[in-house]
Amino acid sequence: MNKLHEVIEEVLVSEEEIQQACKRLAAQVSQDYKDKEPLMVGLLKGCIPFIADLTRQMDINVQIDYMAVSSYHGGSSQSNEVKIEKDLKTSVEGRNVIIAEDIVDSGATLQKVIGLFEYRGAKSVEVVTLLNKQAGRKIRMIPKYVGIEIPNKFVVGYGLDWADHYRNLPYIGVVKKELL
Ligand code: IMP
Ligand code: MG
Repeated sequence: MNKLHEVIEEVLVSEEEIQQACKRLAAQVSQDYKDKEPLMVGLLKGCIPFIADLTRQMDINVQIDYMAVSSYHGGSSQSNEVKIEKDLKTSVEGRNVIIAEDIVDSGATLQKVIGLFEYRGAKSVEVVTLLNKQAGRKIRMIPKYVGIEIPNKFVVGYGLDWADHYRNLPYIGVVKKELL
């Protein structure tokens, strides 16, 4: 494996820009979900830094649970299969659910998870994502809360991985093309 910072060609989103995005999203979500007791569902593992920073800047009571689904199988290429690897402990029935994602790319993962929560009787389901890769979209999927729009490049850091590595980079960086 390569050394941590050496795989990065370019820092796309700095730590400061990430924090500004979290602050703005936290204010929007807090405003919209005042008195709605939302259940925030983080999609593991990529959501961890984002959900931690986002929810600590929110000033409403938000319950948090996690789910693990897989759409990428270790590498940087995609498959259409979405498998539930870890389910929620909390019931979504009658709840205002907010799914927290690190990035929306094709939209396939979210489409499946949203469909599942609707089937299970959620009152509402919305999405908050730190990054949006609009050019990667394969289906109609418009996340309600978007932190930062990014180009169609493979990025790592701040939760995002390449073959389960580089999640601990504090910024979002583009991986050197020759390594992919
Ligand atoms: P989607 O189903 O194509 O929208 O993919 C969503 C998931 O793919 C994200 O939660 C990430 O785990 C992964 N993913 C998409 N783009 C990237 C990227 O540029 N870097 C790392 N992971 C990515
Ligand atoms: Mg993910």
